[in-house]
Amino acid sequence: MTSPLASRRLVLTRSAALVGAASTGLLLPEIARAQTGKVRVGFMLPYTGTFAQLGVAIENGFRMALNEQGGKLGGREVEFFKVDDESEPSKGIENASKLVQRDKVDVLVGTVHSGVQMGIQKVARDSGVLSLIPNAGVHAATRQLCAPNVFRTSFSNSQPTRALGQAMVAKGHKKAVWITWKYAAGDEAFEGFKESYTAAGGTIMKELSLPFPNVEFQALLTEIAALKPDAVACFFAGGGAAKFIRDYAAAGLKGKIPLYGSGFLTEGVLDAAGPAADGIVTALHYSDSLNTPRNNKFRLEYAKAFRLQPDVYAVQGYDTGLLLIQGANAVKGDLSNKAALYKAMESATIDSPRGKWTMSKSHNPVQDMYLRVVENKENKVIGVAAKALADSGAGCKMG
Ligand code: PHB
Repeated sequence: MTSPLASRRLVLTRSAALVGAASTGLLLPEIARAQTGKVRVGFMLPYTGTFAQLGVAIENGFRMALNEQGGKLGGREVEFFKVDDESEPSKGIENASKLVQRDKVDVLVGTVHSGVQMGIQKVARDSGVLSLIPNAGVHAATRQLCAPNVFRTSFSNSQPTRALGQAMVAKGHKKAVWITWKYAAGDEAFEGFKESYTAAGGTIMKELSLPFPNVEFQALLTEIAALKPDAVACFFAGGGAAKFIRDYAAAGLKGKIPLYGSGFLTEGVLDAAGPAADGIVTALHYSDSLNTPRNNKFRLEYAKAFRLQPDVYAVQGYDTGLLLIQGANAVKGDLSNKAALYKAMESATIDSPRGKWTMSKSHNPVQDMYLRVVENKENKVIGVAAKALADSGAGCKMG
């Protein structure tokens, strides 16, 4: 058996030999490649299905942030890998493993759907790969299953709805119906809504739901009409949200029972939803109409680059890029220096189009929530619903 001392000597001798060889130029190409080779970034996002547009906006935003750095991360070129996760939770682990095992990515950027995120979270915790969450709000990712190598740049599922209840009661809506897709994002958005709405004195008459990504809303809308609540609050997103807004109006509820939601309801769907969306009030950590130099510049440049209007998903993708850039710059591109990389990312302030935000201890944004109303295909800010709102991070133990 080698004693600890002897093995330490062995290590020293080996590294001394490496330094010696490097200084003669013998090993230089190999060492140089290890430090300056391309950073491998994997996108695991929905490119098909009801969240397809969300995946594209996130990728666009991320690429835009890198392009502002000449396409580099900490001085290194970047190579991209892509997997369409189809918002299919049953394939989450397999798809994340493709990027980590097969493509050997240094950074995994994904995803949108909370159920799929649970698969990524397992792979991230098992492999230690740096995992950046550009949307999915599932609580566990930054609560009981938090990890030093996992950072979220978006929100936790109850953050936007925790800013909603008070605003609804303030408008005099004391009795509400909640409606959503039945999965983690909808359930956890309800948690935030219930907490804030009941604390402000509101009563929840009924919780309605349908399976994700089902869009057969008719029977539920008929039930809402019969219940006659003061208002309806909901969580829907992507293609399904556009259809919900149109069906709500077509069922004759628009103008009779005010519709509220977490702001995803009206993100990226205002063209598809048309006038049916006018007047919907939502809470979210972003608004198109934030009239700041930072947001105006971002919107102009995104529109020029992609011929599309940015939405919250584009902002989250962009911020994911900004966070990674700050980390990579702090370690001069050496992403294997994990302690310094994570420390830089934990202490980063992100100068985002949504406004400046910081990371909580459990790696979730501490951010302002805006109250918005849809007017002429725009989410107009009508107030700040919560300042520097943090997720509880309950049960998170790093390390
Ligand atoms: C989620 O599944 O966590 C999710 C999906 C779409 C959104 C927000 C949250 O817009």
